[in-house]
Amino acid sequence: MLSEFLLSEMSRLGSQDALPLHRQLYEALRRAMLDGKLGAGERLPSSRDLAQDLRLSRNTVVAAINQLSVEGYLGSRVGSGTYVNDSVPRTTPGRAARGGGHPSATPQAGRLSTRGKALASTFCATELEVQPFTPGIADFSAFPLTLWQRLQNKHWRMTYPDMLDYNDSGGYAPLRRAVADYLRVFRSVHLEADQVVITSGTQQSIELCARLLADHGDTVWVEDPAYWGAVKAFMATGLSLHPVAVDEQGINPSTADNAKPPRLIYVTPSHQYPTGAVMSLPRRHQLLATARAHDAWVLEDDYDSEYRFSGPPISSLEGLDTDGRVFYMGTFSKVLYPGLKIGYLVVPKPLVAAFKQAHYDLNRPGQMPVQAALAEFIEMGHFASALRRARQNYGERRQCLLEALKPVLRDDTPEGPSISGAEQGLHLCLRLPQDVDDRALAQRIAQHGLTVRPLSAYCLQRTDLRGLVIGYGYAPLADIGRCGPVLAGTVSQALSG
Ligand SMILES: Cc1ncc(COP(=O)(O)O)c(C=O)c1O
Repeated sequence: MLSEFLLSEMSRLGSQDALPLHRQLYEALRRAMLDGKLGAGERLPSSRDLAQDLRLSRNTVVAAINQLSVEGYLGSRVGSGTYVNDSVPRTTPGRAARGGGHPSATPQAGRLSTRGKALASTFCATELEVQPFTPGIADFSAFPLTLWQRLQNKHWRMTYPDMLDYNDSGGYAPLRRAVADYLRVFRSVHLEADQVVITSGTQQSIELCARLLADHGDTVWVEDPAYWGAVKAFMATGLSLHPVAVDEQGINPSTADNAKPPRLIYVTPSHQYPTGAVMSLPRRHQLLATARAHDAWVLEDDYDSEYRFSGPPISSLEGLDTDGRVFYMGTFSKVLYPGLKIGYLVVPKPLVAAFKQAHYDLNRPGQMPVQAALAEFIEMGHFASALRRARQNYGERRQCLLEALKPVLRDDTPEGPSISGAEQGLHLCLRLPQDVDDRALAQRIAQHGLTVRPLSAYCLQRTDLRGLVIGYGYAPLADIGRCGPVLAGTVSQALSG
């Protein structure tokens, strides 16, 4: 019996550690899932039944279930309760999942920390099949490789010993200047070059902020649905995730959310990932006021603002901040290539020295010759040309995809399918009615050799969103022209059947 197992686990945990009851129940439920006592796809008893069986308050049960949902162990289906996610691995020998591809399905999995197990068992971004329509992937074949090799060779030839050492000044100075000039002009960020810290990408920028600005257990507000890279970074740094629902104007904290005061607020205001919502001006002012009221820091992830195809230009949230509480982060992953592993973090002035020092101590940054080649790439105008070419290419692909999707949008009632987030970036979101099983639909589409992601898979707590996140960056125009109708046909069939 599940409740007997949970009671005995909780009593064991209660006698070992002074864990609060909701945490004991969280651990006991997690153990039941990892041991296969609660199998993948199995329905959890209702919170009311669990509370009754375990003689706990319903709030205690709901708190444990919410935490497991946020960490990806549990998912909900509209109107039919809470289920164990398919991606939860079993760790008991003999009951382990077949195939062994998952890191925590190995015999060593039991040796992972609690955090390690949670990190290894949540899903989404790790399932990386790169095929037409995979979101988040740019077309790196257009990158001017020969020119880049020439610049790299030049800087390696010129390299003097200093450039081979770790770097403690926030990165190669000319690169920081070039980034600052770009951000000032194109993103209306208020900054001096000294505030730019070069990182190994957004992931590292987020981790640095999480480590330096929040303590273990502090609350971070994340958008729901969310970018899984950020979710994982916050999980890894021991922060308590609090999902806040996003609507068509961006993150929209409720009174209940405000009762969970954040230390950090992570947002993608220019192009919410994955819905594509652009945060409206009133919402931006409101968010800054909310951050001020809670004395929280705002982390602005501006991951794809280089590609804006229609609508008025959108400035950064940082540009509206008069308080010095926004950390702005960007990346070269989308315009150049992700394996370059260079991003940047703009740090409010009073904290610059602390961030440089901590970045040096925690990450031992280096790669100065690569940073020097990149600085010259930007200074000589090659970045601007690469961006111009990429905008043109992606603009055509986006248009082609939008054309292909038109037949899906014939039902123009408010409940019918619609497109969000197509004004910017390298993906759009096809919103679908709530009764559509978007995970099954994505699997059906995969049978045609196409990868789209179900919107519901990005949801942390919400159960009301259905849709497909569709990328147009990776595949050449001809492939989009060929595969677009296949994608649209499969969706239309699902909607009518
Ligand atoms: C919201 C968001 N932020 C950041 C990134 C990438 O950041 P990086 O490659 O610099 O870690 C991505 C990549 O898809 C993204 O979707």
